Formats: sequence, C-alpha cells, structure tokens
Amino acid sequence: MSGWQDYLDQHQSRFEAELLEFVRIPSVSAMPEHMPDVKRAAGWVADRLRGAGLEHVAVLPTTGHPAVYGDWLHAGPDKPTVLIYGHFDVQPADPFELWDSPPFQPEIRQGCVYGRGASDDKGGMFIPILSVEALLQAGGRLPVNVKFIFEGQEEIGSPDMPPFIAAQRERLACDMIFSADGLQWSADEAQLVMGLKGLVGVEVIVEGPSADQHSGLHGGGINNPLMALSQVLASMKDPQSGRITIDGFYDDVVDLTIEDKEQIARVPFDEAAYCARLGVPEAFGEEGYTIRERIWGRPTLELNGLTGGYQGDGSKTVLPARASAKITCRLVANQKPERITELIRAHVERHLPPGVTARIEHLAGDADPFLVPRGHNATQAAGEVLREVYGEAPYVTRVGGSIPIMTLFLRELGVHGVMFGFSVGDENLHAPNEFFRLANFRRGQTAYCRLLEKLGG
Ligand code: BES
Ligand code: MN
Ligand code: MN
Repeated sequence: MSGWQDYLDQHQSRFEAELLEFVRIPSVSAMPEHMPDVKRAAGWVADRLRGAGLEHVAVLPTTGHPAVYGDWLHAGPDKPTVLIYGHFDVQPADPFELWDSPPFQPEIRQGCVYGRGASDDKGGMFIPILSVEALLQAGGRLPVNVKFIFEGQEEIGSPDMPPFIAAQRERLACDMIFSADGLQWSADEAQLVMGLKGLVGVEVIVEGPSADQHSGLHGGGINNPLMALSQVLASMKDPQSGRITIDGFYDDVVDLTIEDKEQIARVPFDEAAYCARLGVPEAFGEEGYTIRERIWGRPTLELNGLTGGYQGDGSKTVLPARASAKITCRLVANQKPERITELIRAHVERHLPPGVTARIEHLAGDADPFLVPRGHNATQAAGEVLREVYGEAPYVTRVGGSIPIMTLFLRELGVHGVMFGFSVGDENLHAPNEFFRLANFRRGQTAYCRLLEKLGG
C-alpha cells in the first residue's frame, strides 16, 4: 500500500545493526564513571535524528545528563504537533556473571537482541525515529508536526528534568505526547497503559557507638543499630494484612472506584501461574484487594537494600556502629512524595528504640502518580492503531512502574502523555539477559507510521 512499509522492509537489517551499535554504548546514568558514555549516547541519538531527516537537532545540556531534541514542523498549522519521548540511559548491568552474553556486547539470538537497554529503552526509543525516517524517505513529508525529546536520566529518576522541562516549555509545546518507553501486554497482545505509579525513596540510617564494638564486651550494655533498624522497619507493615502501618500513609489515596475495579478485573490473571513464574510459594499484599489491584492501583512500600554489620564468610562477633536501609514507595493519586517522606520520618522518630539515633535521607527521583483520563483523544488513536497492528483490541491496564517525566509534561506543557511503547514485561528489564524482540521492533515501526498518519487525518 505505501512506500514507508517497503522502506522499512528494505532497511530492517541496517536498523538492527544500528540498534546493536546503540546498545554497545554503556550509558548507565547511575554510575559517575559512565557519564561520558551517557553523553556519547546523546551524540549518537542526535546524529541518528539528523540522519532520519529531523531538523533543529540539538544535544541540550541540563544540570546533569543531557537531553536530545529534534523536530520536523512542516506539516502545517492545521495539523497537530506530536511530541515523542524516550530515554537513552540504561540501568546498571550487574550482576555481570549472570549474563549469557556481555551486556554491552549485544547479540541477536532467536530473533531477539540481548543487551542492557535493548528493551528499556533503546530499542523502544529508536522505533519512532525509524518510522519518521521511513515516512520522510517514502513521501518527503510527515502527516503531522513531530518533536522528539529524549532524556539521559530516566533510570535515576530524572533529577534534573523538572527545571529543564520548565525552561524548555516553548520548544516542547505540543498537542499530544507519546512515550516510546512503554510495554505491550505480551509478545503478541497489545495494551493501553492508563496509569503509572508515583515514587519516593528514602534511606534510613541508624547509628549507635562511634565505631564497631566487640559484641561480648559491649553487647547488653548498649543498643545495636542493626536490631534497632530492623525493629523500626518491621513496624512499617502489618505482616498479616499487608497494610502499611505508617500513620497517615493512606490519607491522600483515592480509592479505586467500582468502575476501576471492573476494568482491572476484565484483564485476565492467573494467580498460580504468576506465583510459579516468580518462584514464590504464594502471593502477598494488602488485604481487601486483588493482586492486580494491589500492583496497579494501591500504594506500596518496599525495602530495596539493607546494610550493616558483618557480611563475610562465617561469623564475626561485632556490634556494628551503623545500619541503613533504602526504601521506596510506589504512590497512587493523590499521594505526594514530599508528604510521604515526612510521614516516614515521623514514623521512624516515633518507633526508634532507645540508645541509637536515626536520620532520614531523601533519595533523588521523586515521581508523582500518573493517570491518563478516560476518553483522551490521543489514547483513542493509539488504541485504534494497536488494534490494527495486533489484530485485537488492546487490554486496558495500568503498571506499577514509574516515568517521572510524564507528570512533568502534564504540569509544564499541560498535555497528558499516552504510552506507546513496544517492549514486553518479560524482557528482563533492569535484570541480567535483558532482550528485545525484533518482531516487535519491526511491528512498532509500522505502528508509529500508522499512528502519525491517523493523527494527520
Ligand atoms: N520503562 C520503565 C518504567 C515502566 C515500566 C513503564 C513498565 C511502563 C511499564 C522505566 O524505565 C523505569 O524503569 N522507571 C523507573 C523509574 C525510577 C528509576 C524513578 C521505575 O519504575 O523503577
Ligand atoms: Mn524505561
Ligand atoms: Mn527502566
């Protein structure tokens, strides 16, 4: 039917080779030693945008990792302006020994690219660039005005993006936003993700004696920071009901409506298969809610890391000087990261046993919860395209993950973003052996071409 399909078919092996080249750049935003690589990835993206025919391409500095912009604005003022988002930074690749092939020496095996960032989000963010290239090469123009914004710090919570997006309001002005960082339901089934969770992180540091002590000489005489920390942490969640017991934690939560619950229940869920896949004896979570409701629509509190004392072989009779825990909470409307931080602080103060001191450090990477309103015009178009390219209507879902910039876009640009990404949740995102399905790499390219055509009317 159209030239862009042929163009995509003819150039697929080049696109795959380019994706491998992109994944080869270890753009780990969390690690200071990889800062030059994040910058190199930004340069790679900028070059590739130019190659695809975009204009005003620029690597834009922030107070941290840079962002990349490019546009094509010749569709005419009567056509919508569409902003497409993705991120070129990746999560750290450790533990390296669990990878079947090195994370930054990507390989194609059985129709999948294996490498850190292949799925989250280098494969994903490359897709719309290729769609725009195909449309421009095949037809000389785009059906709508397109702007791209790619960031290099999503995986650390976009700490420098709030002032950046505020300062770039004019450059980024648009009618619709699509995130090329996002998931489909399965390898062959589509979904419309209507909600993301917010996020807040804190570290709780408990201190006792000024240095480690002999546990026989001083055990019984002074308190133990590791024990005190454990007691404080244990007081944060009811082991039976799974409810978070921090005073006020649920105060701002908007409960799921009957309609929300019905929508969630329409999505198939096999509890036994879920538990088997994760290797757990049974599910666990907040009483009164289904597993799906808990993951998609209820706030959570998770311990991400616990340190203190002796971690080596055998035993060491030590009374440690210090212990710490990293905690993150996934938030739902209308919880606020700042308020949750204060509630945790108050809880720790109230529950700390005597003989130790505690402090709370707020970790970077706050995100507000994000919900796409029902009946949103861009969602409608996205849903229609997904139905066309997958052959069935998409499931309507939410996810428990977060993309901090989505609420920044809403606040600064006044536009609700719509998730339009082609990764799948089983692709080992953030884990060893991350991979991306080339079939969906290709399908996503078609989907973005059709989406832009549909939006152009
Ligand atoms: N792409 C993910 C978020 C995501 C996961 C969106 C599943 C849709 C479906 C993103 O790169 C991510 O990992 N976000 C982090 C944000 C954090 C570091 C602030 C997350 O959710 O942990
Ligand atoms: Mn991502
Ligand atoms: Mn991620």
